[in-house]
Formats: sequence, C-alpha cells, structure tokens
Amino acid sequence: MEKDKAPVLRDLPEELRSERVLLRPYRAGDGKALLEAIDDSRERLQPWRPYEHSPVPPTEDETEAYVCSERESWNKREYLSLSIWERETGQYLGGVGLYGIRWEVPSFQIGYWLRASAEGKGYMTEAARLLCDYAFQRLEARRVEIRCDTRNVRSAGIPRRLGFVYEETLHSASRTPQGDPIGDFVFAMTKAAWTVNVPL
Ligand SMILES: CC(C)(COP(=O)(O)OP(=O)(O)OC[C@H]1O[C@@H](n2cnc3c(N)ncnc32)[C@H](O)[C@@H]1OP(=O)(O)O)[C@@H](O)C(=O)NCCC(=O)NCCS
Repeated sequence: MEKDKAPVLRDLPEELRSERVLLRPYRAGDGKALLEAIDDSRERLQPWRPYEHSPVPPTEDETEAYVCSERESWNKREYLSLSIWERETGQYLGGVGLYGIRWEVPSFQIGYWLRASAEGKGYMTEAARLLCDYAFQRLEARRVEIRCDTRNVRSAGIPRRLGFVYEETLHSASRTPQGDPIGDFVFAMTKAAWTVNVPL
C-alpha cells in the first residue's frame, strides 16, 4: 500500500494538469518568474505575511534560493509546494501546496497565493480542486484542511466554493504584522465527502 511507504519513497507527480492550469514542483531557474509575480503583488501580499509560506523575498537571488529550498522540502516530502502556470500562456500564476502533513493519517493543509493580476478568474479554485483530487486519489488522504485568517474573505471563498465544511474558528491563533491577535477559520473536507473531478 502506498500509505505504508516511508514518505521519501512516495511516488509524486512531476506535473498535474486541469483545464487552464498546470501544477508542478519548483525547479532551479523559477526564481525569476516568482520575483516578477511577487513584484506585481507586493502590496497585496503584505497583510498576509504571517503565513509562513507566503513568499516575500525581495531579490532574484533570494527567490531563487526560495525555489531551491521548496524543491528540497518536496524531495524530502516535508511539505509539497507546487508552482502554478497558466497553460495557455505559460505565465507563472502563484503557488499552492500541501503543508502540515500527517502521513500517518494521512491529512494535509492546503496553502496558496496568486499574483495580483491573476485574481478573480477562478484559477486558485481550479488549482486547489486539482490538488484535492490528487490528495484523495493518490496520497490516500482522509482529510484536507484549509485555514485562513478570519479577515481574508477571498481566501475563505476557495474552501466554500469547493464544498469544504466550516468547522471552527481558532481565536487569537496568530498576529497581524502590527502585533494584534487574529483568528483563523478552519474548513475541512473528508475523503468520504469529496467528489472526484479529474480521475488521476
Ligand atoms: C487568496 C487568493 C488566492 C484568492 O484569489 P481569488 O482570485 O479570489 O480566487 P480564485 O482564483 O479561485 O477566483 C475566484 C474568483 O474568480 C471568480 N471567477 C471567475 N471565473 C471563475 C471560474 N471559472 N471558476 C471559479 N471562479 C471564477 C469568482 O467568482 C471569484 O470572484 P469573487 O470572489 O469576486 O466572487 C488571492 O486573493 C491571494 O493570493 N491573496 C493573497 C495571499 C493569500 O491571502 N493567501 C491565502 C492565505 S490563507
């Protein structure tokens, strides 16, 4: 059984495709595309900096170091960070990934961000749906969670559109960059409740 394998021996995809997006692990050389997307989005990403996986490094060397470290974590199966590309144009759109992994369940948390110019087109809902398909079909996930800052209305829209169940609010779970306590919403999906969209 795949679920009994040591995490580092698990077979992972080199890419996943849906109608408009392609997801793949980061590669050396992706730092430039990442930097351009961050430059497009710097102001909008600022309020969400407390999220440890929101990339905010300011130079191309740092974004290149970031993509290499994301790839290293992928290789070790510590967490699975994927870059998102628009299939039609090849443009880098942002990132999505499986974090907080508990292989023994297995359960995962999905985290994500989009470049500002790609917002409002449903790309992240499509990418997160594809990743859920992958987690439930190939990683034998029992549970996938999405957590977001209670102020982040756009982020909460994604689990809602995908049919996740709102479970609870974790009060004072983190702090704003100014130091004020803020809560997190917890949304969850189980294998039993998930309807597969793309058979993988
Ligand atoms: C969170 C974030 C990824 C959400 O982006 P988004 O564009 O709202 O999400 P989607 O790509 O799924 O697009 C959904 C929007 O596109 C619209 N849309 C257009 N075509 C669509 C389609 N084919 N399918 C679904 N939605 C579509 C939806 O109506 C929705 O717009 P609305 O909220 O005005 O109703 C983005 O705001 C972001 O990166 N924020 C900064 C980082 C961040 O907060 N990360 C999350 C931390 S928890």
